[in-house]
Amino acid sequence: MDNTAQIDYWNGAAGQKWVRDADRLDKMLRPFLDAVMDAAKPKAGEVVTDIGCGGGALSLAVAGKGAIATGVDVSEPLIEVARRRAAVSAPGTRFVVADASEWTPEAAADLIVSRFGVMFFADPVRAFANIRKGAAPGGRLAFVCWRPLAENEWALAPIIAAMPFLREAPKPPEPGAPGPFAFGQREHIDRILTEAGWKDVRISPWDGQIELPGATAPETAEFMLEIGPLSRTISEQGLDPEKIKAALVARVEGLADAEGRTRLKAATWIVEATA
Ligand SMILES: C[S@@+](CC[C@H](N)C(=O)[O-])C[C@H]1O[C@@H](n2cnc3c(N)ncnc32)[C@H](O)[C@@H]1O
Repeated sequence: MDNTAQIDYWNGAAGQKWVRDADRLDKMLRPFLDAVMDAAKPKAGEVVTDIGCGGGALSLAVAGKGAIATGVDVSEPLIEVARRRAAVSAPGTRFVVADASEWTPEAAADLIVSRFGVMFFADPVRAFANIRKGAAPGGRLAFVCWRPLAENEWALAPIIAAMPFLREAPKPPEPGAPGPFAFGQREHIDRILTEAGWKDVRISPWDGQIELPGATAPETAEFMLEIGPLSRTISEQGLDPEKIKAALVARVEGLADAEGRTRLKAATWIVEATA
């Protein structure tokens, strides 16, 4: 099993969308960065690896605490974004284009972190065993991942609104298949980390809200069409997003609060372990 399909995905149109939306996504995902930082508590001088770092927001936050951060990601366009950002705010931070399931760091990490970057491995046990080998003895692991789609209103609401336009209801992913919700089940995460040799595995629910980007309902609807599970379904089923947009705009208008903001429930796990 290799990660070719995900590597192609994150270097293709999806990676380009994440590049275009990098700043809006970071604003939207900021609460989860704070949640990982609270769990990870990076200290000045620590060597830290950020797995699936994307545009590098978490690596840069860790560097802001005085740690020596390296971000690893398979996506060349997203690593370019991360390097551009680091040049301005944290020039000592390194970013590497590599598959985290095979990559070996130059220095063993005291701390390994990730915001939504560890659910895409074809063989997660092998990947987390390799990640553990890159940790110093007693090194800490702290990451955030999504709980199941059904608990994540921000991802489910757009799919429900678009349902009349889909060729078929989106198929639930094969159990264990890589994807944003692959780590939805607590027992699954516990088994993967334990088989990969991690100790003291702690998995805690963390509930928050996502404020979807967009100053107007049509802008928020466009974002829903661009990023997230609905966007994946549209490309898998070869649909015309324009035909779905009006239904999404109506749904967003129904969901928005008095100030016009669309804030929806987000359900995650904060996962911690020791090498
Ligand atoms: C949902 S994005 C999260 C990006 C970033 N952590 C953030 O919070 O903005 C998932 C990231 O994981 C990366 N990724 C997927 N498979 C990977 C692998 N095998 N090794 C390293 N990175 C991977 C993708 O390229 C993508 O940037």
